[in-house]
Amino acid sequence: MCGIVAYVGAQRATPILLEGLQRLEYRGYDSAGIAVLSDDGDLQLKKTTGKLKELVAAVGAYEPSGSLGIGHTRWATHGRPNNDNAHPHTDCHGDIMVAHNGIIENYAALRDELLAEGHVFRSETDTESLAHLIERELETTNDLAEAVRRSLQRVTGSYAIVVVSRSHPGRLVGARLNGPLIVGLGEHENFLASDIPAILRHTRRMIALDEGDVADVTPERVVITTLAGAVVQRPITTIEWDIESAEKGGYPHFFVKEIHEQPDAVRQSLMGRIEQQGEDDKLTLRLDELDALAASGRLDTIRRVVILGCGTASHAGMIAKYAIERWARLPVEIAISSEYRYADPVVGPETLCITLTQSGETIDTLVATRLAREAGASVIAITNVVDSAITRSADATLYLRAGPEISVAATKTFVTMLTTLYLLGMWLGQRTGALSDETAQRLLADLRRTPDLMRATITGVTNDEGLGAAALISVADRLARCQSCLYIGRSMGYPLALEGALKLKELSYVHAEGYAAGEMKHGPIALLDPQTPLIAIATESAVYEKVVSNIQEARAREAAVIALASAGDTTIQRHADALIYVPRAPEFLSPLLTVIPLQLLAYHVALKRGCDIDQPRNLAKSVTVE
Ligand code: G6P
Repeated sequence: MCGIVAYVGAQRATPILLEGLQRLEYRGYDSAGIAVLSDDGDLQLKKTTGKLKELVAAVGAYEPSGSLGIGHTRWATHGRPNNDNAHPHTDCHGDIMVAHNGIIENYAALRDELLAEGHVFRSETDTESLAHLIERELETTNDLAEAVRRSLQRVTGSYAIVVVSRSHPGRLVGARLNGPLIVGLGEHENFLASDIPAILRHTRRMIALDEGDVADVTPERVVITTLAGAVVQRPITTIEWDIESAEKGGYPHFFVKEIHEQPDAVRQSLMGRIEQQGEDDKLTLRLDELDALAASGRLDTIRRVVILGCGTASHAGMIAKYAIERWARLPVEIAISSEYRYADPVVGPETLCITLTQSGETIDTLVATRLAREAGASVIAITNVVDSAITRSADATLYLRAGPEISVAATKTFVTMLTTLYLLGMWLGQRTGALSDETAQRLLADLRRTPDLMRATITGVTNDEGLGAAALISVADRLARCQSCLYIGRSMGYPLALEGALKLKELSYVHAEGYAAGEMKHGPIALLDPQTPLIAIATESAVYEKVVSNIQEARAREAAVIALASAGDTTIQRHADALIYVPRAPEFLSPLLTVIPLQLLAYHVALKRGCDIDQPRNLAKSVTVE
């Protein structure tokens, strides 16, 4: 996601901001900018698209002087990456500068309201409406922090922001809600940043702001209030990490950091897409990005769906197939992109092509999608990277909003793909009329609980009490010593088995295969022996009993069985040599939880085997060659 850094003190702000932004580069970005208030009251703004070196060059010899400033690296969510959309954003007169990380959900309504009052907008971003809101509030209060609080009371969504105003020299105001923001405490100087590495060279004393906090920061003091204005105290922490571990949030690898980010990533994917409305608090599904395509009438003739993707993306598609077929009663075909393009596929205007690619650049997926589109199919792209190549081959795009994924092996983009596909499946079900209102209400309510269930899953499999971490680590010990292992599951558990096996292969180089559990007796069962563990997805589902039968068949061949089961399932104990529990959940949500211990297993096996976890041998994050 975006990176923010801000400084107030006696030093020159510009070098501190530029260095801070460089320290945030690992988060990924498409444009950057700084705003510095000079000592004679000039508010200077520099913004560039692309790499940070472009901004450094633009700042060049004419470095803005001044000891108050804010900087931002952007990872686009609203509006394409260009200079106008880069942050900081300003009010009508260039007196206020705002840098923002997050999504302002009601920005369109705010923008209309402010436009009607005569405010002039310069960008397509959701953020700019905040600058104009603050401008309006400053007309009736002389206090920047109060103007920010009042403005944020009008906002729904998520944000971490920093604000400076020409009328308030020597003062920074920061605020957060569902977005990270920390205060760095110096001697006669203070900092705000979205992440520790940005300011670690200057101070180790930090305050993590809480949800809804607003920090009013001068060189000598930091006052934190709630959004309503009540002063609150937050603890000061001393950071012991070096820069490298700070970039990984204190985790040893990006892969495990990104596993832990999954609940928040899913929360971002759902943000603004499920709304509670009306007196009866009815849940409404909104996928505004699809409105134009829906209005064109092209979806009215859809009779089937093809989901295209590679690797982990295709596994997300395979799981979603079960849900989309159930909810929309449309046949769904999953096609591996590299196969589809040479298969002379049956495709035309009756086909909706859903194309999945986190990078938006995988060449096989791009070409397969173009082929489907040229044959007349409507294309909805689901990707993580704003304005990536796939968006130009699609009729509409849904963004994952997972934030940059740095580890080569996908984690948070898998769960956000699945979440987004579920939303799309329900949307299609409502269009075809196959999904009743009652069922939709239940599904939407369940989906909203997912981030909390995922958080509980992480806590459950990493805590030191009960089975938790000990169970996971002892299973990892066993897998680290084996030559080969099998993953099995049925229904949605089958593609999940494929994903579990893929994670183990790519991270630890242990040979692993995923199978549909019912297929075991048609061949793979011959591979079983005491040295070949079997990992079974045996969570609560309509096919639970069948999976248990398949486990029994394997155990009769002396295979060691590791079962992933739903909390409270004691029956499974007598069928398994080792157990990993995940919280109970509706069947369609279960893959979003069960994938977490599968990812962590692969991680711990790779750790034990000394593998390069974030960059496994022979693999690349985005595959742009055939
Ligand atoms: C590479 C990555 C995988 C990813 C696949 C598809 O193989 O290593 O993690 O699943 O590409 O990438 P995409 O960007 O199209 O989702």
